Amino acid sequence: MTDAPTDDPASLRHADAETRFSGTDGRRGPVGGRFGLPPSEEFQRFSSSLAVDLRMLDEDIDGSLAHATMLGEVGILSLEEAEQLREGLEQVRHEMNSGRWVPGDDLEDVHMAVETRLTEIVGDVGKKLHTARSRNDQVATDVRLWLRRRLRILDTALSDLVLALLERVERDGKILMPGYTHLQRGQPIFLGHHLLAHAWPLARDRERLQDAMRRIDRSPLGACAMAGTPHPIDRERSAEILGFAGLVENAMDGVSARDHEQEVAAACAICLGHLSRQAEELVLWSSSEFRFVRVGESYATGSSIMPQKRNPDAAELLRGQVAQASGAFQALLMLTKGLSLAYNRDLQDDRRPLFDVVESAIDSVRIAAGLWRSLTFDAERFEDEMRGDFSLATELADLMAQRGVPFREAHEVVGRIVRWCEERGENLGALTSDVAQEFHPRLHGDLGPWLDPRAAAERRTSRGGTAWSEIERQVALLREDLA
Ligand code: ARG
Repeated sequence: MTDAPTDDPASLRHADAETRFSGTDGRRGPVGGRFGLPPSEEFQRFSSSLAVDLRMLDEDIDGSLAHATMLGEVGILSLEEAEQLREGLEQVRHEMNSGRWVPGDDLEDVHMAVETRLTEIVGDVGKKLHTARSRNDQVATDVRLWLRRRLRILDTALSDLVLALLERVERDGKILMPGYTHLQRGQPIFLGHHLLAHAWPLARDRERLQDAMRRIDRSPLGACAMAGTPHPIDRERSAEILGFAGLVENAMDGVSARDHEQEVAAACAICLGHLSRQAEELVLWSSSEFRFVRVGESYATGSSIMPQKRNPDAAELLRGQVAQASGAFQALLMLTKGLSLAYNRDLQDDRRPLFDVVESAIDSVRIAAGLWRSLTFDAERFEDEMRGDFSLATELADLMAQRGVPFREAHEVVGRIVRWCEERGENLGALTSDVAQEFHPRLHGDLGPWLDPRAAAERRTSRGGTAWSEIERQVALLREDLA
């Protein structure tokens, strides 16, 4: 290092920087020895992942604790050194979580922040922690740990949402409602049937995430930069300490793979898509045009100008979450497009979309459960709507089919009956037995029982149909799944 002329402030800064860069430095990773100049401030800011990384501080510490323990056990460090590191790491965790120590912006990422503070606390032994490790396997481990924890939380939240729907089925499920296709009245169904159609996709969301968990639950720790290490490490041991079910077998894959993140983002986006469909119906059903349901006050908002408003904002926000989620999935998918092996710095940008999509899913699922529990369904409104519509047209066709008329022919006849009613401004109730027989001789006898929506719903006892016995069977299945 040369002496800088003291009268030149620029050189002074330069010389000062050189001095500071002569050792380990967190600003460009621990690479002080290699560089004579610090990174430009602008680049340093661009390059830092610290703000996002702090969301996985605990996971980073946990990974380091396991690594230190393993290094001690295999004799790469002495047991005392490992213990010193562990104590120091716990102190760093405490200081950083409580805000007693705040990493400077000059630290590139959470790994450098923790190591820097650790070395300040424990001294030179802190510099041994990084033996047989790279930030590449560190970050891969941290993210997997982060996902494991969050996916467990998400699973619990999803179970509770399914439960909220099942409770609603048990409470309001016998309300009759028009079942829709194309948002046009189709056939009478029980509200419970409709609610269960929202519950099953959530059960599949749980399955999808549990399945992704099997691939997440493998430790990449010990992959080091990508080639492994000559040190006699025990990867199984650090994996065991961290509670991983297994190892990522190939070191290069361990630091490069992000498909588990893409998979989680996709599963979260799909789940948020399910919430979006539920939410849209609640928005629609709570409108004055439908008035099927009232959103609880704790999940509704007013308007700053229109005093009468009771807006279903919670549902609207839920409806919208899938937009960002699908962006997150796209971002993660594109991040690895054409990316050569192994670690590349592009990969640093995985965390923001990943963390955001998972946290959005957790928050949304919880809000959805609260929202469903807050609702008041209006049985009369639903059932009012069942009078005077043509939802029972299929019933008449089914009746004829049962009496031997080919279904296609029956369909045609009932179509003409509907047109006849419409031309008279009537509904199927206008269909006296005499009139009915003019349309087709098999439409004899009292049609009354066939034109009762509740009876029509109850007749649909085929597996998965709307009959109450089928609803009860499905509730039991879903409850069993939750148990
Ligand atoms: N902050 C980096 C990341 O998140 C850590 C790994 C850095 N590795 C490297 N070779 N620069 O991806």
